[in-house]
Amino acid sequence: MTASIRKRILTGDRPTGKLHLGHYVGTLMNRVKLQHEYETFILIADVQALSTHWDRPEVLRETVREVALDYFAVGIDPAVSTICVQSMIPPIAELSVIYGLFTRMNKLRHNPTLKTEAQSYGYMKGDDLMLGFDKLTYGFFGYPISQAADITFVRANLVPVGEDQVPHIELCRDIVGWFNQLYGRGAQVIPQPEALVGDIPRLSGLDGQSKMGKSLGNAVLISDDDASILESVMRAVTDPQKIRRNDPGHPEVCNVFAYHRVFSPPDEVACIERDCRSGTLGCVEDKRRLARTLQQLVEPFRQRRAVWESRPDDVTDVLMSGTARARAEGEETLQIVRQAMGIDYW
Ligand code: TRP
Repeated sequence: MTASIRKRILTGDRPTGKLHLGHYVGTLMNRVKLQHEYETFILIADVQALSTHWDRPEVLRETVREVALDYFAVGIDPAVSTICVQSMIPPIAELSVIYGLFTRMNKLRHNPTLKTEAQSYGYMKGDDLMLGFDKLTYGFFGYPISQAADITFVRANLVPVGEDQVPHIELCRDIVGWFNQLYGRGAQVIPQPEALVGDIPRLSGLDGQSKMGKSLGNAVLISDDDASILESVMRAVTDPQKIRRNDPGHPEVCNVFAYHRVFSPPDEVACIERDCRSGTLGCVEDKRRLARTLQQLVEPFRQRRAVWESRPDDVTDVLMSGTARARAEGEETLQIVRQAMGIDYW
């Protein structure tokens, strides 16, 4: 296949911290696999991160690089995939302004992901988000529009993401549809992207309470060492009814078992299920086994990360050249867009 007929992927992450195993099973694994099949662009979405961290921009200087290192660690190959930084790509901002012209407020207000996130800025009345105008910022409320610009500035066809992102891809499809209808005279000026969600069910944090998040202290990071993994896993919550080692357990309600199902080999999962139910496998030993499995998983990640950590200039080079390449694509897209709209005055 030649580069010109390969379909394109765009996906990305907000650099608010190091990436964790939730990111790995939700989307990174897919990206590693698909990067050879699709022309892949991976966006470090620092502007989107600033929609909640505008008062702490210094955090991003560090985390942009950490996220890049996490990418290299899991096997995203910068010789194959283009890794780029959002704030250094002006066409994304320009497209956001254009998309914002015809996107209705209600579309944003009813976006389930935004709604969950915006609850602290407003309040819910039934199913409706009532906006707290004193707290909610324009940039935060509009970030799904900016995400549509992220996806379309390279005219992407496929967006591998975690399932929480699906409403954003839906909105992007709507925006592309409106754009093409308004300005395309029947033609698909911008391709309609599709979401690709990993087939592994979403993992809760190790506490079993909430989604995985570094700030919640319930996640295993891609960059964790063996000791931290053991510590995090030993703190995990298991079946609340299994109090003593020999009590029969209920794997179906046990969060640690949910992790085994994702990360342990199938025959081991079957043994664990049997021995937990019969009461021969205690939770402490069960967690030790999970810790070992996760330690083995991240071992190669750590090795690759270490190589890149020792070559900071190469990391900068990858980000700079990826960003330049992506920006050139974006400029081309913007030309197409301006032409379709008839605002290519000279
Ligand atoms: N919103 C995504 C997240 O929080 C990150 C992101 C920004 C993204 N731009 C994107 C994902 C474009 C896919 C495509 O994880």
